[in-house]
Amino acid sequence: MCGIVGYTGSKAAGEILIDGLKKLEYRGYDSAGLAMQAEHKLIINKAAGSVADLEKRIEGQFDHITVGIGHTRWATHGKPTDINAHPHCSCCEEFALVHNGIIENHQSLRNWLTEKGNHSFTSETDTEVLAHLVEEYYNGDLLAAVRQAVARVEGSYALVVITAHEPGRIVCARQDSPLVVGMGENENFIASDIPALLAYTRKIKVLEDGEFASVSAAEINIFDAHGNGIDKEMLEVSWDIEAAEKGGYDHFMLKEIMEQPAAVRETMRQRINFADKKVDLSEIELSYEEIAALEKIHIVACGTAYHAGLVGKTVLEKLTALPVEVDVASEFRYRDPLLGKNDLVIVISQSGETADTLAALRLARKQGLKVLAITNVVGSSVSREADLVLYTWAGPEIAVASTKAYLTQLVALYLLAVHFGTARGVLGENSITSLVEGLTTLPGHLAAILREEKTGKLRSYCEHLAKWDNAFFVGRNLDFPVAMEGALKLKEISYIHAEAYAAGELKHGPLALIVEGVPVIALVTQKSVIEKTLSNIQEVNARGGAVFAITSEGFDVVDDQVESVFHLPPVEEILAPVLSAVPTQLIAYYTALIRGSSIDKPRNLAKSVTVE
Ligand code: F6R
Repeated sequence: MCGIVGYTGSKAAGEILIDGLKKLEYRGYDSAGLAMQAEHKLIINKAAGSVADLEKRIEGQFDHITVGIGHTRWATHGKPTDINAHPHCSCCEEFALVHNGIIENHQSLRNWLTEKGNHSFTSETDTEVLAHLVEEYYNGDLLAAVRQAVARVEGSYALVVITAHEPGRIVCARQDSPLVVGMGENENFIASDIPALLAYTRKIKVLEDGEFASVSAAEINIFDAHGNGIDKEMLEVSWDIEAAEKGGYDHFMLKEIMEQPAAVRETMRQRINFADKKVDLSEIELSYEEIAALEKIHIVACGTAYHAGLVGKTVLEKLTALPVEVDVASEFRYRDPLLGKNDLVIVISQSGETADTLAALRLARKQGLKVLAITNVVGSSVSREADLVLYTWAGPEIAVASTKAYLTQLVALYLLAVHFGTARGVLGENSITSLVEGLTTLPGHLAAILREEKTGKLRSYCEHLAKWDNAFFVGRNLDFPVAMEGALKLKEISYIHAEAYAAGELKHGPLALIVEGVPVIALVTQKSVIEKTLSNIQEVNARGGAVFAITSEGFDVVDDQVESVFHLPPVEEILAPVLSAVPTQLIAYYTALIRGSSIDKPRNLAKSVTVE
């Protein structure tokens, strides 16, 4: 869950590496470091703190150095200290490496190396053992030493290594953690994530599990685990560099909230035939016969993506008449799920690299099931290992708290549900037309919500909310998973303890916590349960709770019952979760802003969770 960069060419490596690390700080930001290849020696600079601190420390000192590797860390093994920061070195500092992932057998390797008597360790990290292994096996060829070293390793790694003995050469290895090589003119780049490279090149080669690369300014050579050369396809990345930067907003999160109308439109584009009012998901290679033969769907995901899955359950069950189960990925594989041979597993993952989700995918495939992935990252592990992929076209999401990726996950699930419902003959012409018309209105409605929030209605409620350390989100039916997602967002970035309850559950316990002023955000968009939700709101009112309602236009009956209210544009109630999520995101954002918390990089969290 860290960021990696590498450069070999003729320009000042430090500048390029620092620039790349800044683009990757969302992957980890508790310490940062560089190893640069000077003549016959390596120069290491690393410390706890931000990339900006590192930049200040090295400023102007190493402009003559043209080869180096860098890392920004999110601690797993060992605290975020100077010593534990990457790069890690061998005893003699002739080898330096940066690593993402976990070396599971690091302790036994450490014991083995210590017993040999010629290795001493300085850090608490699992990574350091790799540097000593490479040193141990080095016999004049860095690639050979790295291959021998990783052959001893159990675990996951994206590994980038340099040595003082081989000027200009960088060696990489990948297993279960992403790594790409970028091609330039007489210079080449390495990164764990594409945004780090976009300022320099759009031509990339994605390393697969078990592959190695030997990179110099002049060439990139890729090898399989047996050392055979691989002729790998070069991909052209179409992302706009602007899209990976803040674009004028104070925070990536606000920028990404504002991008939602476009992200939703993009996710539907080319999948909706606007003339015929039909959904076209022919990109998913499942025949109508195969879809009709399905008996059950299992959705597996983590965090926000799991909440998208909960909305997806209700929507898929309604539109396809298939039973749907939803699991948190970290639980799925340990509960011996009953998977039928005609079941489909859907994994949802923005990053496509979440370790638990990937493990669930592998478990399902091992049992012979087809896996369909909904993901935002082309070339991610999930996208490569799944049988079928439905991309969300949200663009890079940098803020740790997911917003636009979540909304596009919802849209992908709606498209899928309409497609499956059509294939299974559950949806008639009229239902399909009205769902497609409803979907088509979403980008305009989202833009309207974002205009409406400028009136300040949400912000004044947040002034109240920001004074509390506890809050509740409630809703029924499709409003409940939106309440769960709203509570998660508030927790993550404002550090207010927020809990979501199915509104009918309040009186079964949590009502005991409602006293004068306690903030309760109520989602009220489902007509079929509006009276029920309103009576739950009255239970809160009777105890003095401060209710803020997010409701649909035309639900005027809600207005008199609550302290303040935010109206959403009118939409078929099955589609309401796409709209109602947005005020909850803004509530979290403004509350965090008032409380002065670190919005884009909340404490203890990282964007991509590639460890279990
Ligand atoms: C919360 C958030 C996380 C992620 C979760 C799964 O705002 O972003 O809960 O949703 O870590 O990540 P992905 O979707 O990358 O698998």
